[in-house]
Amino acid sequence: MGLVKVLFVLSLLMVSMEPLVTARYWHWSNEKKSNFEAAEDLVTSLPGQPRVSFRHYAGYVTVNEKNGRALFYWFYEATTLADQKPLVLWLNGGPGCSSVGYGATQEIGPFLVDLDGRGLKFNSFSWNTEANLLFLESPIGVGFSYTNTSGDYDGLGDDFTANDAYGFLHKWFLKFPSYRTRIFYIAGESYAGKYVPELAEIIHDKNKDPSLFIDLRGILLGNPETHDAEDWRGIVDYAWSHAIVSDETHKTIIRTCDFYSDDPWNNTDCNTAVEELFKQYKEIDMYSLYTTLCQSNSSASADMSTLFRARSSSNMMPRLMGGYDPCLEHYANTYYNRLDVQKALHVADGTSLRNWTICNMTIFYGWSDSRTSVLPIYKKLIAAGLRIWVYSGDTDGRVPVLSTRYSLSSLGLPIKKAWRPWYHQKQVGGWIQEYYGLTFATFRGAGHDVPTFKPSESLAFFASFLSGESLPSERD
Ligand SMILES: *[C@@H]1O[C@H](CO)[C@@H](O)[C@H](O)[C@H]1NC(C)=O
Ligand SMILES: *[C@@H]1O[C@H](CO)[C@@H](O)[C@H](O)[C@H]1NC(C)=O
Ligand SMILES: *[C@@H]1O[C@H](CO)[C@@H](O)[C@H](O)[C@H]1NC(C)=O
Ligand SMILES: *[C@@H]1O[C@H](CO)[C@@H](O)[C@H](O)[C@H]1NC(C)=O
Ligand SMILES: *[C@@H]1O[C@H](CO)[C@@H](O)[C@H](O)[C@H]1NC(C)=O
Repeated sequence: MGLVKVLFVLSLLMVSMEPLVTARYWHWSNEKKSNFEAAEDLVTSLPGQPRVSFRHYAGYVTVNEKNGRALFYWFYEATTLADQKPLVLWLNGGPGCSSVGYGATQEIGPFLVDLDGRGLKFNSFSWNTEANLLFLESPIGVGFSYTNTSGDYDGLGDDFTANDAYGFLHKWFLKFPSYRTRIFYIAGESYAGKYVPELAEIIHDKNKDPSLFIDLRGILLGNPETHDAEDWRGIVDYAWSHAIVSDETHKTIIRTCDFYSDDPWNNTDCNTAVEELFKQYKEIDMYSLYTTLCQSNSSASADMSTLFRARSSSNMMPRLMGGYDPCLEHYANTYYNRLDVQKALHVADGTSLRNWTICNMTIFYGWSDSRTSVLPIYKKLIAAGLRIWVYSGDTDGRVPVLSTRYSLSSLGLPIKKAWRPWYHQKQVGGWIQEYYGLTFATFRGAGHDVPTFKPSESLAFFASFLSGESLPSERD
């Protein structure tokens, strides 16, 4: 690690201490005021919203008063027995992408954005039928989240994100005190494969102080970025085994790219061959190999080869945007950039507009602190007895099922229940392998954002995760 990098990490550590220190006196703050604040965040007149019987809240939580850092959340109570069901925090990745734009309104929330951006449609497979669901736009600069101190943006990375998310949770519990002692899980997808374990680790460490205790029971990860080198090896082998690249290109990559080195991108042949891989993927949807490509004219459409080239000139591992759907961006952008919608969600007063984008590319490009592997955190959380379930849509080329299998197999966990199909409504939903400490399952025929492709299967899977019971291993 170079000196510059050491200094950079140190400065991040200093920045990140702040919310943790603040956390110590959060629980002394008056809760009456907080209850009132929660009532203020109740969403009552969201344009185009289907009528529902549960309450939902949206608004800001200030995570740093001095700098004026505020994170935006959207919280849906469970459809029934909300006071008994667990609380689940959902995070999307990017880095730089919105959990509201993806998780809440494309994947697992009760309201999905309509194709014309004019309204919302009810999702009968919403995960809030099983749990209270909290979506967080994180870090600052993503979606509606912001800071009044522009220098804050210079330090964006994994540690900063995890610490602000941790600070957010404690402040959010002040608004919603009845969730303070609730059973809690963290779930997420794609680059949140880094965020989720990183936040879980902070919670685990801070839980040694009883006044900060959060009842974290487990984490759930979908097509997660986990270990950079294993992830890259999986991308390459998957592209070859799914007939995206030629034998020659694959051989060149295997011969010239050392994904396990500190600097895999200093080899020109390797770069050229990997660029060829993205050139082929550009012709289809890398996130979902066998579905129709979105043909919208959205200017921000992900061009993987451009993203790759932009990053490979630096000596950091280039990271590709995770969880990107150019078609969704089109109508989600329309909806969330409406004055009346922003007013209803307590983002703005209804006169000024906040610029919402589903993914913030400045954040994506500027991301400078990324853990190369979160597997050491897996080990720590497994030792602590937390439930860890990892799932993978098997038609995703971005964080392919092979990447996840390479990562998990490097953990060397003993097998508890061998590889077998799991069933949903008499069909094979995918395959599953249970290890001591971790459960891994595939979703047959699902792309990167699994719940978008397999809503009914995903909900059943989520219910299994919460109950800790094995998925059905028989056809009925
Ligand atoms: C940021 O600044 C604006 C304008 O002064 C202010 O209204 C807002 O409350 C500030 N945000 C935070 C989180 O302090
Ligand atoms: C994107 O993030 C940058 C900081 O990296 C911030 O300055 C900008 O306001 C954000 N853009 C949007 C549209 O939120
Ligand atoms: C690339 O990096 C490796 C490992 O640091 C080093 O051994 C090699 O000489 C570098 N190659 C070039 C062409 O710079
Ligand atoms: C997309 O752009 C092309 C060329 O600029 C234009 O002819 C076409 O009408 C556009 N399609 C849509 C759906 O906007
Ligand atoms: C919103 O932010 C995006 C990304 O930074 C930028 O391209 C766009 O011009 C902004 N739109 C407005 C209305 O400011």
